[in-house]
Amino acid sequence: MTDTVSFHALVPAAGTGSRMGGDMPKQYLSLLGRPVIAHTLDALLRVPRLASVCVVLSPGDTWWERYAWPDDRRLRVLRSGGATRAASVAQGLAVLAGETSAKDWVLVHDAARACLAPEQVDHMLDELREDPIGGLLAMPLADTLKRADAAGRVDATLPRAGLWQAQTPQMFRIGLLADALRAYPDVTDEAGAIEAAGHAPRLIESGGANFKITYPQDLALAASILASRKEPRE
Ligand code: CTP
Ligand code: MG
Repeated sequence: MTDTVSFHALVPAAGTGSRMGGDMPKQYLSLLGRPVIAHTLDALLRVPRLASVCVVLSPGDTWWERYAWPDDRRLRVLRSGGATRAASVAQGLAVLAGETSAKDWVLVHDAARACLAPEQVDHMLDELREDPIGGLLAMPLADTLKRADAAGRVDATLPRAGLWQAQTPQMFRIGLLADALRAYPDVTDEAGAIEAAGHAPRLIESGGANFKITYPQDLALAASILASRKEPRE
């Protein structure tokens, strides 16, 4: 069977970055002299198989137009972000669903995961393109897990066997994901909606470099990861 499906990236970027603090949303904070999200978009645009990269901003975003963005016709911007990440994703999906086939793939990727490597996306496309459900990048848990009691003391040590930390991209068929998010809007990631709909997403092993920039100290780590990748090329 000829496979003519296309792949699209959807980047929710309508958050405020409350855990980061500061006076601008974290996706615009400076990372090696450019906004965080510029690195994220670079990584996605360096994957030739992605037919489009759609960014979902908050309707009140006044930051986007202050910067220069890659001159790539695959890049597009929507200003219809919602109150939650899932709502922002649903808004982007609604637009994509109107322009693509339900069988086409969407890769939802957090704007705040700026250290994604294009090779990881390529690997994911290779692994999942024939999959009936789709899946996500994730990392096996390395540390021992403790549950705290109200006094901040260890109540229990939990078995970590089989536990993974979910990352993004999360890659699903556009039709399947749109239906699942409509039925289960209160999830914290796309895989959660797919699971609630009765399917089992595949886990594609990733590494710690694809972490989500969340707290102020994360910026220095992201800078060192990105800078170390540039060295051999230049
Ligand atoms: N996001 C979004 N719309 C929202 C909330 C979040 O598009 N209403 C996006 C963020 O911009 C980010 C991604 O979802 O790229 C992951 O969310 P998170 O890391 O939690 O970002 P924030 O919600 O901005 O940060 P915080 O939770 O610390 O406020
Ligand atoms: Mg958040």
